[in-house]
Amino acid sequence: MKRIAILCVGNDCPGLNAAIRAVVVKSSEVDIEVLGVKDGFEGLMKDELDVLSKANVSGILHRGGTILGTSLLIPEDEESIKTVQRKVEQYSITSLLILGGRLGARAALNLAKNNVASVLVPATIDNDLAFSDFSIGFFTAVENVKNALDVLHSTAESHHRVMIVETMGRPGGWIATVGGLTGGADYVVSSAEAFDPMDLLKKIRMRYEGHKRFSIIVVESGVKLPDDFYKSLDLSPQTPAAQAIGTFIERSFREFGVEWRYTNLGYLQRGGSPVSMDRLIATLMATRAVEMIKAAKVYHAVGMRGLTVTEVPYSETMLNVRAVEEHLRLLVKLFY
Ligand code: F6P
Repeated sequence: MKRIAILCVGNDCPGLNAAIRAVVVKSSEVDIEVLGVKDGFEGLMKDELDVLSKANVSGILHRGGTILGTSLLIPEDEESIKTVQRKVEQYSITSLLILGGRLGARAALNLAKNNVASVLVPATIDNDLAFSDFSIGFFTAVENVKNALDVLHSTAESHHRVMIVETMGRPGGWIATVGGLTGGADYVVSSAEAFDPMDLLKKIRMRYEGHKRFSIIVVESGVKLPDDFYKSLDLSPQTPAAQAIGTFIERSFREFGVEWRYTNLGYLQRGGSPVSMDRLIATLMATRAVEMIKAAKVYHAVGMRGLTVTEVPYSETMLNVRAVEEHLRLLVKLFY
C-alpha cells in the first residue's frame, strides 16, 4: 500500500485544512494511507506523525490555519536532509505531500536533489509562485483586506481623513493590488512597481478639488522607498513605508490640513475561515496531488491555470516571483 506523508511548510494560510481533508478523503478512495506530520519538517524530524483517517478530518473544511501545525524549518544542510531521508525510509513513505509557498518549494527542490519524492501544492496568501495562477489562501486574504477597507471607509469619509492601510503580501504585490481593487482603494503602493510620490499627490489633490476630502491608500508592507524620500522627510529609513507615505501626504497638503491615520492589517489578513474559492482550489489541487502520487508522478508541483489544474515538473524556476499582472495594476488606477 502506498503511503503519503502530508505536511505544512512555512506560514499558515486559510484553506490548508480544506487541502488536508481532500488529501485524506481522496487517498482513502484510492487505497493510499496518509500520515499527518505535525509542525512541518520539525515534526517529521522528531517523529511527530500519525495516521490520518477520514474521522480525523471531519468538520475541518471551514477552519482557518492548519490542524497539523506548521513551521519555518526546512531541510537545507546535509544533516537535516539525511534525517528526512531516514524518516521517509523508516515510515515507508512513498511521497511527501508538501503544502506551502516559496519555502515549501525550496524544501521540495532540496529533497528532490537527494531523491526524496514529493508533490508540492501551492499554499500562500502571497499568490506569488511562478507556476500557478492561484495559491491556497490568497482569496481569503483579499476578502479580509476588502472587508477592512469597507470598514475604514466610514471613518475616512466622516472625518475627511487619509487612511493608510498596510497589507502583507510581499514581494509580488498581489494582496495590495487585488485587495485595493476590490475594496475601492484610492491608491495602491506595492512592490510590483516603483513608487511615484508626485503621482500620489496629484491623485489626492484631484480628489480634494473634486470635493472628495478623504482617501484610502493601500501600502504593501514589503515596499522599499528610495533613501532620498526618507531624507526629504527627515525620517529614518527604518520607518515603515506606510507611515512615511502618511507623513509625506500630511506635509504636502498643509493647505488642506490633511489628517492621516495608519492601520496595519497584519495577521487579520492571514487567518479565519477560507472563502469558497480557496476551498475550491484547495480541493482541486489536493485531490490531483493524490492522483499523481497514485500514478507515481512525483517531483511535480500542482498548479492552477484559470480553473484548470496543472502538473509542473520541479525546477529552479519554481522559486521565481510572479509579480501581479500589469492589467490588474492598470485596472486599479482606473478608479483613482
Ligand atoms: O508568507 C505570507 C506572509 O504573510 C507575507 O506576506 C508576510 O510578509 C509574512 O508572511 C509575514 O510573516 P511573519 O510575520 O509571520 O514572519
